[in-house]
Amino acid sequence: MNILLTGGAGFIGRAVAKRLIEDDHKVWILDDLSNGQERNIAEFRNQLADFIIGDIKDEALLGKLFDEVKFDICYHLGASINVQDSIDDPRTTFNNDTIGTFYILEQCRKHEVKVVFMSTCMVYDRCNDKCGITEEHPIKPVSPYAGAKIAAENMVLSYYHAYGLPTVVIRPFNTYGPFQKTGGEGGVIAIFIKRKIDGEILTIYGDGTQTRDLLFVDDCARFVVEAGYSEAVNGEIVNAGLGRDISINDLAKLIVGDETRIKHVEHIHPQSEIPKLLCNYEKAKRLLGWEPKVTLEEGIAKTEAWIKEGHLN
Ligand SMILES: NC(=O)c1ccc[n+]([C@@H]2O[C@H](COP(=O)([O-])OP(=O)(O)OC[C@H]3O[C@@H](n4cnc5c(N)ncnc54)[C@H](O)[C@@H]3O)[C@@H](O)[C@H]2O)c1
Repeated sequence: MNILLTGGAGFIGRAVAKRLIEDDHKVWILDDLSNGQERNIAEFRNQLADFIIGDIKDEALLGKLFDEVKFDICYHLGASINVQDSIDDPRTTFNNDTIGTFYILEQCRKHEVKVVFMSTCMVYDRCNDKCGITEEHPIKPVSPYAGAKIAAENMVLSYYHAYGLPTVVIRPFNTYGPFQKTGGEGGVIAIFIKRKIDGEILTIYGDGTQTRDLLFVDDCARFVVEAGYSEAVNGEIVNAGLGRDISINDLAKLIVGDETRIKHVEHIHPQSEIPKLLCNYEKAKRLLGWEPKVTLEEGIAKTEAWIKEGHLN
């Protein structure tokens, strides 16, 4: 198939690209490199149909691209992803995550291209039961990031209902692994591992009792790709996660061992924190036959090995 992948030079996008290439598709990546990096795709750069440095908000560029190539699927991952950035500068997040998605949708409607929209577990309200968060669980836009994603999700589903366009909204839980950034704006596991290796203190926002369901990037990429291949998920919202949550306190202990190397600091956005996130992925299992394969302990070991090899993002 001819596949357009937005955000393909980013952390999850590059894993999705790799998988699509392994499945023998022709892949076009569109990424403005606002958070992605060319070195993320160096390994398979020459196997891509094209790598276009450009913005999903550039309607003229999108129009030309869709006129030139008859795409079969658009995996739309390009987005502003940082909760704190969305609080500091909601315009950028709204423009990229909501308006940018609308421009993608319009091209896909015109050219009848299936859309896989990458949303996030951050749209959910806190989890209150041990069975975890299903797709029917209440949503709550506690940050402009979540608000912008929910707005985009609704537009994506409206194109399914109003035009019969095959679209799917996917909500992976917090994802981690090689190629995630290890600095302040990166993921919690990458940051903690980097600090451990550098002999630094691991800092936790708030009391550390907030929990996360952490999904290894290869499992996440397999889920994303399968959502594009399957007709059973069209018009649906589908979760993917590990099905196990862990408090940030326990995660820090698991990574660094020594509790004296963990420090709690005042939360930067307590009002936008979700106290408990635990995924119920039964729907993904039922519709896609998808299940996570990598345990948290295995995933942390793989990520640590990658960072220790000297890779830094
Ligand atoms: N990391 C997670 O835990 C997680 C969990 C669930 C969902 N997601 C979603 O998955 C997607 C990928 O996230 P990631 O963690 O790989 O982040 P990332 O920042 O590494 O990837 C996003 C990519 O999109 C690109 N981009 C941003 N704005 C763009 C624009 N206007 N035009 C073109 N490209 C643009 C960035 O340069 C980057 O390469 C995002 O949609 C994110 O919301 C992430």
